[in-house]
Amino acid sequence: MTDWLRTRDTSFTFGGTKVQQVPSALPWLERLCVSLGVKSVLELGTGWGATTCLFGMLFPGRVTTCSLKDLRGKHAQDLHERLGIEFISADLYQPETVDMLWTVEDEKRGDEPMLLFCDGGNKHKDFELYTPHTRVGDLIVCHDTYREFHPGKLGAPEVAAAQRLERILQIELDVDNSWLCAYVRGGAA
Ligand SMILES: C[S@@+](CC[C@H](N)C(=O)[O-])C[C@H]1O[C@@H](n2cnc3c(N)ncnc32)[C@H](O)[C@@H]1O
Repeated sequence: MTDWLRTRDTSFTFGGTKVQQVPSALPWLERLCVSLGVKSVLELGTGWGATTCLFGMLFPGRVTTCSLKDLRGKHAQDLHERLGIEFISADLYQPETVDMLWTVEDEKRGDEPMLLFCDGGNKHKDFELYTPHTRVGDLIVCHDTYREFHPGKLGAPEVAAAQRLERILQIELDVDNSWLCAYVRGGAA
């Protein structure tokens, strides 16, 4: 990737909205989804909704995004509507929200692999509460700033082991300063 893509810069836009990721995160998210045959996305934490636009362009009508408050500007809201993105306003850390979001996602995904994008207010809680419902072959990506989510932090290795989540492309994602941490759910031992 070029040097610009590797910068730790979050002052660029996608689809007219400021992205709350570093530049290399977007091509990596697309590449991961395509290579793993993902067909739908459940995004935890919408923010301003720029990354959601990328998901919506890849999988129109098959993206769900959830945030406590709707922080999207009018342009992002309009785009989301046109891309068939379902925005749900709820507290991610209430048990009823976990159940509700998986009910919505299960209907959209059918039997296809999906991406669970953990980018809410508490990345470790996202990981702990939401990964148990993923299925074999699903992709789980955590926005990893090294402060908010760290795979070695207390609890995370246990969750990964219990859910048979295998960390993938660690070196490549780090080399590109993607700030992403990716896992694939494996099958029974
Ligand atoms: C880092 S931003 C998400 C950025 C977005 N995924 C992107 O790539 O542009 C985190 C989001 O999580 C939301 N959030 C924080 N705590 C939450 C909670 N308890 N329930 C739902 N959303 C929450 C914040 O309002 C914010 O929109």
